[in-house]
Amino acid sequence: MAWDVFVVHWLHVAFGIFWAGSIAFTRVTLFPALATLPKEQAEAARGSLLTAKARQITLITAGGTVVTGILRGLMTGVLDQLNTSYGWIFILSGVLGILMFVFLLNRVPTPAFLRTVYVAAFPVIFTMMVLMRFGGF
Ligand code: HEM
Repeated sequence: MAWDVFVVHWLHVAFGIFWAGSIAFTRVTLFPALATLPKEQAEAARGSLLTAKARQITLITAGGTVVTGILRGLMTGVLDQLNTSYGWIFILSGVLGILMFVFLLNRVPTPAFLRTVYVAAFPVIFTMMVLMRFGGF
């Protein structure tokens, strides 16, 4: 086994499930639960989640996912497969991942539709991961 690829793949999956999992939990479980509280309490609880520490963790897991993802592809020779469906999916994932990371870096309040696009990108990128696992389409 190529241990360097194993370690980078392990890190990539670990960062990726943390990043995507935290979004899934927040949107599917936490926000609907908070919506059952009186409005002021719900807003206070949502505001309390926006700490500097939470932002730091998100930037680390998101950045970690993108960097290890790109590295993982480079280590197994994706540059020689750019004219295959695997290569296209890799490029698309990389671009989408970088855009998602840039979105997180932005500190200016963003329109609601952009936040929706950010959340919707997770199932898309996840599907691309599974497609790559099967060698493309
Ligand atoms: C939310 C973001 C992401 C998540 C949750 C995620 C998750 C995963 C998971 C779970 C795998 C393992 C698939 C398997 O072995 O069955 C994987 C593989 C991989 N990911 Fe990601 N990933 C994300 C973003 C990215 C990005 C931005 C890139 C950069 C291009 C990338 C590149 C790769 C590569 C090259 C593989 C190996 C595919 C293979 O040949 O089997 N990923 N990813």
